Amino acid sequence: MANKGLKICLAMALVLMIIVIILTVALFLTVFKPKEPNIMVQPVGLEHFDLSLLTNLTSNVSLGMVITVENPNYGSFEYPKATGYVNFHDTIVGEVPIEGESVPARDQITVNTSANFMLQKLVANSKFWSDILSGSLNFTSTAALPGKVHMFKIFKLKATVYCTCDFSINIASRNVDSNCISKIKL
Ligand SMILES: *[C@@H]1O[C@H](CO)[C@@H](O)[C@H](O)[C@H]1NC(C)=O
Ligand SMILES: *[C@@H]1O[C@H](CO)[C@@H](O)[C@H](O)[C@H]1NC(C)=O
Ligand SMILES: *[C@@H]1O[C@H](CO)[C@@H](O)[C@H](O)[C@H]1NC(C)=O
Ligand SMILES: *[C@@H]1O[C@H](CO)[C@@H](O)[C@H](O)[C@H]1NC(C)=O
Repeated sequence: MANKGLKICLAMALVLMIIVIILTVALFLTVFKPKEPNIMVQPVGLEHFDLSLLTNLTSNVSLGMVITVENPNYGSFEYPKATGYVNFHDTIVGEVPIEGESVPARDQITVNTSANFMLQKLVANSKFWSDILSGSLNFTSTAALPGKVHMFKIFKLKATVYCTCDFSINIASRNVDSNCISKIKL
């Protein structure tokens, strides 16, 4: 009799253990699964941009960029210093230095940087003047952040975030529309 009771007890413990394991795995696969940080990039100061700078083709023009990184994860997201690239019709015309940062769990940070545009490359593009005449200049910027997601200060998961932003600059109003998409690769 006592033997049977013990067996039932063991069986119950086993079932309970399996349930706990399944729940833990389910939690890791859902709630704690690393999600892509949301990255938004907005150029600033274009309204004060001095057009006469465009006449000196040997110079570089820098444009302020405000980058917001929002971390939806239950662990901090840390990324090293990186470089973003700005493309104009498949030609790299600018670079954006990105400082390494750590974004706390379920929080966001805002960092300022400036894009360095190589005017010579931009103006040399055969589409430059026709796009200016059409009223807007479109750029795409890309950055890969080979970061880490920290979970409960114990686990470190490598997570590379790929961010692509499309910018459309309205020449007349100097308004910039930006739209960014981030993807995470574990
Ligand atoms: C412009 O930027 C490029 C790349 O960042 C650099 O190699 C070049 O020296 C810069 N030119 C000037 C005039 O600052
Ligand atoms: C053009 O820019 C370069 C680099 O910034 C500078 O050395 C040069 O003096 C500028 N030329 C003119 C005409 O402003
Ligand atoms: C970033 O730039 C914005 C606007 O240009 C400014 O208000 C803000 O104080 C800057 N933040 C930092 C951390 O430099
Ligand atoms: C730039 O993008 C905007 C919005 O996507 C589009 O309306 C416009 O025609 C594009 N301009 C050029 C020159 O490709």
